Amino acid sequence: MELPYAEPYRIKMVESIKKSTVEQRKQWIKEAKYNLFNLKSDQVYIDLLTDSGTGAMSDRQWAEVMLADESYAGSSSFLKLEKAVKDITGYNFFIPTHQGRAAENVLFSAMVKEGDIIPGNSHFDTTKGHIEYRKGKVVDCIIDEATNTDLFHPFKGNIDLNKLEKVFKSNPIEKIPFVIVTVTCNTAGGQPVSMANIKAVSELCKAYNVKLFFDAARYAENCYFIKEREEAYKNRSIKSIAAEMFSYGDGMTMSSKKDGLVNMGGIIALNDEEIYRTAITFNIMYEGFITYGGMSGRDMGALAVGLYEALDYDYLTSRITQVQYLGEKMAEFGVPVQKPIGGHAVYLDANKFVPTIPKEEYRAQSLAIELYIVGGIRGVEVGTILADRDPETRENRYPELELVRLAIPRRTYTHNHMEYIAATLKKIYKSRTEAKRGYKILWEAPIMRHFTVVLEKIQE
Ligand code: F0G
Repeated sequence: MELPYAEPYRIKMVESIKKSTVEQRKQWIKEAKYNLFNLKSDQVYIDLLTDSGTGAMSDRQWAEVMLADESYAGSSSFLKLEKAVKDITGYNFFIPTHQGRAAENVLFSAMVKEGDIIPGNSHFDTTKGHIEYRKGKVVDCIIDEATNTDLFHPFKGNIDLNKLEKVFKSNPIEKIPFVIVTVTCNTAGGQPVSMANIKAVSELCKAYNVKLFFDAARYAENCYFIKEREEAYKNRSIKSIAAEMFSYGDGMTMSSKKDGLVNMGGIIALNDEEIYRTAITFNIMYEGFITYGGMSGRDMGALAVGLYEALDYDYLTSRITQVQYLGEKMAEFGVPVQKPIGGHAVYLDANKFVPTIPKEEYRAQSLAIELYIVGGIRGVEVGTILADRDPETRENRYPELELVRLAIPRRTYTHNHMEYIAATLKKIYKSRTEAKRGYKILWEAPIMRHFTVVLEKIQE
């Protein structure tokens, strides 16, 4: 008999979380203007808003916090981190930033001009925001299968090579400074990109003389899926898979708050010296000196260790197994979820869950609010509100996928928490009535509105 799977760590310190009643939560979410970002964390029982910066650090990472060197220039913590980044990515140059979007800000300041076109696989919202802010345009070249939540495809984050080549052929090539491949693809449901696809994209980019960058926020999880789902990689170490993946590109940005296993941090790594030289000036202006870039020495020390821990196969198995368990349990209950289950989160398909709410009244947001009220669980809308308005027409953009993301923080919640989450969804799904009305926006920011949007409940 095969023994059940268990985590490759035990718990040394615990943090209390607070339970509350349905009545309290109804009041709190109203006070929060129906925006889950406005809730106080102690009004939330299980916080699945994000897996970004919310994980638990290891004893070895905390030891690095104590060993940290806080020198302004040339600190030993920076040197440890630089060594780790170069070792793992194989890129020649490293720039530290305070988080992923800061890495985008610095790199895109050096690389994106008005009128530029940046193709990719469903760019993350901050990536898109930083490109559109510079009056560049993103083109989504993800495979069509990505938008069918019932369809099993092992690599739903893949780029459609025909779509990409069409972008190359129908635009002046000098207007395309780079292609960005997001691993795993968060917007499409935490779906991985295959090595075969990365290799093919790389070849196409080389043929057209376009650079290839990775948004590597969850690259280790992507490498785990490559090992599990691509035959040729089943006996390879995660680290060697990562090295091969990065070898097909020219550089990367990374939010270290995910697969860096830290609470704060960002990375730019790349090969081109000229771009590096331009970018470091922006780094000094926006982030800080080139040997800290918005991170304290203790952040950098913890990240140097976290980067390696995230490449550990046993850790990744426990991480992905936990997320899969939750997703499969919900699927068993009939709850419509994006399949296959992604690496860092389970995504509820709101179009199937609450089809009777008009899409103009924000189905996914309505479902996320219901989940909070019933179970004290905070997820996040990945749908129309997140998609923002079209920068030219100012019309709402209705994405094909209207999702609620339940992101699982790393090494944080237990198996019983997963049972609680699944049971709450079962309860909501089984007792759902034909809800007809959702929410309307009272105020929104011109860009990245989902963080600060003010909503009002539309009465049935
Ligand atoms: N790229 C991807 C794929 C991301 O998921 C994120 C952040 C970023 C870039 C930006 O990184 O937050 O460190 O500035 N994702 C978080 C999330 C916010 O909840 O998925 P950041």
